[in-house]
Amino acid sequence: MEYRMLGRTGRLVSVVGLGTWQLGADWGDVEEKDARAVLDAASEAGVTFVDTADVYGDGRSEQIIGGYLADNPGSGITVATKMGRRAEQVPESYVLENFRAWTDRSRTNLRTERLDLVQLHCPPSEVVDDDAVYDALDTLVAEGAVAAYGVSVETSAQALAAIARPGVASVQIILNAFRRKPLEEVLPAASAAGVGIVARVPLASGLLSGRYTKDTTFAEDDHRSYNRAGEAFDVGETFSGVPYELGLRAAGEFSALVETAVAQEMTPAQAAIAWIWQQPGVSTVIPGARSADQARANAGAGGDHVLGARFGAGVRDIYDRLLRDEVHDRW
Ligand SMILES: NC(=O)c1ccc[n+]([C@@H]2O[C@H](COP(=O)([O-])OP(=O)(O)OC[C@H]3O[C@@H](n4cnc5c(N)ncnc54)[C@H](OP(=O)(O)O)[C@@H]3O)[C@@H](O)[C@H]2O)c1
Repeated sequence: MEYRMLGRTGRLVSVVGLGTWQLGADWGDVEEKDARAVLDAASEAGVTFVDTADVYGDGRSEQIIGGYLADNPGSGITVATKMGRRAEQVPESYVLENFRAWTDRSRTNLRTERLDLVQLHCPPSEVVDDDAVYDALDTLVAEGAVAAYGVSVETSAQALAAIARPGVASVQIILNAFRRKPLEEVLPAASAAGVGIVARVPLASGLLSGRYTKDTTFAEDDHRSYNRAGEAFDVGETFSGVPYELGLRAAGEFSALVETAVAQEMTPAQAAIAWIWQQPGVSTVIPGARSADQARANAGAGGDHVLGARFGAGVRDIYDRLLRDEVHDRW
């Protein structure tokens, strides 16, 4: 596993982290013992960065992580949580009083005095642009409730606005083989400013693993069933906003490319993850895992892999031919 500085947090984290939306809800059932096994497998494989949110299972994900950390005090894991989605998505919600209440709840759930990193959870653009929001976040840091703050965003424009703020330690954004826009401006801007980049949805919600077919079904309470057209939240969070059938075709080509262009033994999911953290400017990639096996395999993508120029060109070609028109100008 390789380790990198996470922007202005001053913390070294593994290039492959762990996303834990799955340990909360919205991905079908994940039992608590399986959630624990995911954390164990990731930690044993060298993962030291875990992403969660106060809304994942209404606190369940945070609580499971808090329990895990209490039982494993030497794990060296940096936890990034998020806040803002338990209230109405209007600028008036993003005030110091709410920030204090939300972070108090997360501190209890995570069983810690001070949160390592708290990220605004995809707030409206007006919030990302509001000076008063950053003043309130600076106050949280000064009061000691959080060590650092960041912003999780939907669009490249929001990412650039957040990167320009001097107190922002990290920005979280969707970046994967099916979502290349952040490569253009966001990664160079983050590098220049010393802001960390947390790359989420690296597998396009699992599509890039190449496991799904047109007959695959997802549980009713899995967002890949109920948010396919953006019925519940931004459609970009489900399959990266790529229509499912088109995603299957692109994923099929991606798997074939891994087979022919990558010399090392790697699964498509591992190649998808390694390709992301090898982009200059990325600090860590946070694949979500529903099982210990997935977490272990994903951590295995954090080693010394050479993907090669032919693979890089092939990834770009799949995007340009099949996906660019569909997604490029939306986020
Ligand atoms: N707004 C936000 O800030 C926001 C939004 C979305 C996500 N996130 C964060 O980003 C993390 C990652 O994104 P994500 O979980 O949405 O999407 P993702 O990482 O692209 O996809 C996760 C899914 O990929 C499949 N998978 C994982 N590892 C695999 C492996 N080794 N082999 C085959 N399949 C594998 C699993 O699908 P199956 O379930 O089918 O097994 C898993 O549920 C989340 O957990 C969350 O922490 C944040």
